[in-house]
Amino acid sequence: LLKVAVLASGRGSNLAALVAARDAGALPVEMVLVGSDKASAGALRLAEAAHIPTLALNPKDYPDRPSFDRALFAHVAASGTELLVLAGFMRVIDAAVVAQWEGRAINIHPSLLPKYPGLHTHRRCLEAGDTEHGASVHYVTAELDGGPVVAQARIPVGPGDTEASLAERLLAEEHRLLPAVVGAIARGRLRWNGEAMFDGRPVTAPLTLA
Ligand code: GAR
Repeated sequence: LLKVAVLASGRGSNLAALVAARDAGALPVEMVLVGSDKASAGALRLAEAAHIPTLALNPKDYPDRPSFDRALFAHVAASGTELLVLAGFMRVIDAAVVAQWEGRAINIHPSLLPKYPGLHTHRRCLEAGDTEHGASVHYVTAELDGGPVVAQARIPVGPGDTEASLAERLLAEEHRLLPAVVGAIARGRLRWNGEAMFDGRPVTAPLTLA
């Protein structure tokens, strides 16, 4: 079983999707830690209910960003984590800390990267008049939402769509996409070898796994 930790700042529906896949026997992982920068995060309550160890650290208790990140990631390392999943973790992580997790950390982001890194992705998609929206899972690098994309899920954008309708439809796709990517890593199909490799070949275009 691949040892997985999840960092989340909010509701935790992507964490819930991972736990559900694991419980259904579809994900050969052990969830070793759920960490958050927000003690009130729904993700922490979900983890407690699933008997996964939790950790909440408050950034205000640290003098600067690197100190907080070093503390948080020291806990992640101590948990024996082999794969770190950022699922709605809404902080930029210190570059030196991220570098230590190269190839071992992935993030899910609600846009078809490289389009719309950062916030308000649904709004920006609508404002641009895009006919398609989507979600991406990428390996984490120091660049915000900028690491190599390994898989994407797509949805059409219709004339009646709003930020809320896009967010809702896309979230359902995220809940398939993220467990599919974690499963591919847990089964050894998706690996990092200085670059993302799927079934022994470099990932040259985003995979469609879900
Ligand atoms: C998800 O839509 C995820 O893609 C997004 O936050 C939401 C978390 O929802 N992540 C980002 O925007 C990261 N840049 P959840 O807490 O219900 O999983």
